Formats: sequence, structure tokens, C-alpha cells
Amino acid sequence: MEEALEVVRKLAVAASEDGRRKARVALHSMAASLENPNDTIHRLGHGHLQAAVVQIGIDLNLFQHLVESASPLTIQQLSEKTGAEFQLMTRVMRFLASIGTVSENGKAEYSANHTTRNLAEKLTQAGLSHYFTTAAPQYQALPKFLKDHDYKDPVDEKDTPFQVAHHTHLNSYAWFASHPDELAYFNTYMALRRKPDVTWLSAYPVVEEAVNWPAEKGLYINIGGSIGHQCAQFKEKYPDIPGRVVLQDLEHSVAAALNTPGVENMPHDMFEPQPILGAKFYYMRAVLHNQSPPNVRRVLENVKAAMGPDSILLVDELVLPESGVSYIASSIDMTMMSAFASMERTEAQWRKTFEEVGLELRRSYTYYPQGYETVMDVRLPQTKL
Ligand SMILES: C[S@@+](CC[C@H](N)C(=O)[O-])C[C@H]1O[C@@H](n2cnc3c(N)ncnc32)[C@H](O)[C@@H]1O
Repeated sequence: MEEALEVVRKLAVAASEDGRRKARVALHSMAASLENPNDTIHRLGHGHLQAAVVQIGIDLNLFQHLVESASPLTIQQLSEKTGAEFQLMTRVMRFLASIGTVSENGKAEYSANHTTRNLAEKLTQAGLSHYFTTAAPQYQALPKFLKDHDYKDPVDEKDTPFQVAHHTHLNSYAWFASHPDELAYFNTYMALRRKPDVTWLSAYPVVEEAVNWPAEKGLYINIGGSIGHQCAQFKEKYPDIPGRVVLQDLEHSVAAALNTPGVENMPHDMFEPQPILGAKFYYMRAVLHNQSPPNVRRVLENVKAAMGPDSILLVDELVLPESGVSYIASSIDMTMMSAFASMERTEAQWRKTFEEVGLELRRSYTYYPQGYETVMDVRLPQTKL
């Protein structure tokens, strides 16, 4: 058995990113095929518990302590480093070892393994803390919510499992304004979660489209750009293309924005008329997938009203295949449903969404196929120019 697994591991590690992903999916389904009903109960039923105990590990800085230690740590040492009581530490470590997030050497001494190192990353901690504090309560509320709504696909962003779970009438972006810890997890996760070297900038012909662009006009308007990482990347890659580079987001996000030379940070609510008219690129990444269908129309109509004949709306989103959607992408879709009454879309669904407001999808550039990440070039229809 060990030998067979080692052969599979070597093949998977040597494979391309896609090959590695396929190996993971195949191994998970192989493991599931060996389960009896009791195993299935505990795998799925204790999923919440795994997330909870990992969150305790993050809160106690446990994973960093293990990664930074040159030798295995005893419960006593871990208890001293974290301040957690000895017996509590024993139980937490036993659980974390049982789910493979740390290694145990048989003498109640613990060391870091591959998963521990993943869990010690800032990105992982922000992402997991976001899912645990903000998203998980809404997953818990989802089944009853759908039952109470006769299993209709949610379309009203003011009536979602998020509001039930967090006892609020606000949507999550407005709620974040009074929940700074949750906002910080979210912003950090958003800023770090995608590889900076695999972005729309590697696929889209920016220079060709922006040729002879006048310096006084908007060049790149990043709507819902969070704290400005993408504006900084744009400016770094294209420092010499004339025109304004502008970050727009809600007031509380812009207040925390980076100060990048050459980038204007502008608080702007995208449900209000777009103040920068006739810009070259209006760009939105992962903004529309957070909005209910009526809100998507309102945002698109505001951008359309500001667009001139040379303007291009760039919508950077997942574009789902018609079948065989991955676990990660389908999880994001369900998360969007429960948080915002919004959705992930196939290309046909995106095309229809743009057509409904009189815009035209010209071309899709898929820059990260494994994650379906695609920037869509959307323009005013030629007949209307
Ligand atoms: C999922 S995040 C994506 C952030 C960034 N574009 C990225 O890809 O990393 C969605 C962003 O939309 C912003 N947003 C939400 N409602 C908004 C509004 N009414 N006006 C402007 N921005 C808004 C949020 O503050 C958040 O930064």
C-alpha cells in the first residue's frame, strides 16, 4: 500500500498543475469509494468541526509555532507558547493530528507537515478566518432558508441566508463597515488569493487597445477594486501609457487603500452614476458575482452610461463550463447564493446578462483555465456607436 501511494504521489507531484488537480480529485473519490455509511457520516458531519478546530489553531498561532520549530514540540511547550491550558492543548493537538493538519511522532510530540505549512501562510489564515467567521454561519442557515422560500433560486440581496445568519438587514459589504476584523480577513484574502503572475494582464492586449490614449482621460478605472492591488499591478506593468489610473470602492475599503504613485484612490458607490466618463477601460474583477441579478443590471447600466465609443468594459470573472464544474467553483457559486443571492455564470449566461442591458460580449480571454478565470471584453454594440 505504502509503495503504491508513493508511486501515485511521485506521478502527481511531477504532473502539471492540471495533472495535480486531477490526481487530487481522483484520490478523494477513491478514498470516498472505500467508505462505509459511518465513515461518510463522520467525513461530512464533522466537516464543521474540522473548520472550527483549525480556526482555534490559527487563533493560537499554533501552525506558525510548529513551522518555526527545528524539532518536534511537546504539549507542555505548545501550551507555554500559546497560553492554552495543558489539557485543552492535548485535546486540540490530538484532533489536529487525527485530521492530518499536524504530524504526531507517537510520543505526544508534534511537528509541521505539508498541511501545517499551508496553514501557517497568511493567505490561508485570512481565507479560512473569512470562511469561518463570515461565510460558515450563512451555510448553516441555507437549508432552512431554502425550505422557507419554497426552494426558489434566491434573487433578492436583502433576503438571503447571510441576513438570517448575522441577524442584520444589511448586505455583507455594508455589514463589513461595522465588523473590522471580518473586513480585514476578507480584504487580505481577496488581495492575496490569486497568483499575481497569472492575471488578466498576461492575456489581454492592453497596449494595442490603448494606443494614443489622451493623458487627461481615464485609462483604467478599477470599480470595486478593494484596496488597490490590481491598480498597483496595472501601473507597474504599464507605467508609460498615458491616462488616469483610478481605484474605486466603498469608502471603508478606500480608507485602507495602498498609496501607489500614479493611482488615484476614489471612494465611489457603483450604484451611483459613474463620475469618470469616456474612459478606456472600466474593469471589474469578482464584483458582479457578488451582486443579485437586478443589481448586476444596475451596475452595468451605470458603466454603460459612462462609456464612450472607445470605451471597453472588462469583466474579470469565473466563466463556468457547461458541465463538470470543479468543487472550488461550485462552492463559490453556493457561497454567492447564500451571501448575496448572486451566482457564477457560464459564457452563455454572461452574454445574456450583457445583452439585457444593451452591451455586447466581444471576446473572452481565459487566462487561468484551471480556475475558469477569464476577462471578458464587453463593448457598446457597433450599431449604437
Ligand atoms: C469580491 S471583492 C473583489 C475585490 C477586487 N476587485 C479583487 O478582485 O480582488 C468585491 C469588491 O466590491 C466592492 N463593492 C461592493 N459593493 C460596492 C459598491 N456599492 N460600490 C463599489 N464597490 C463595491 C467591495 O468593497 C469589494 O472590494
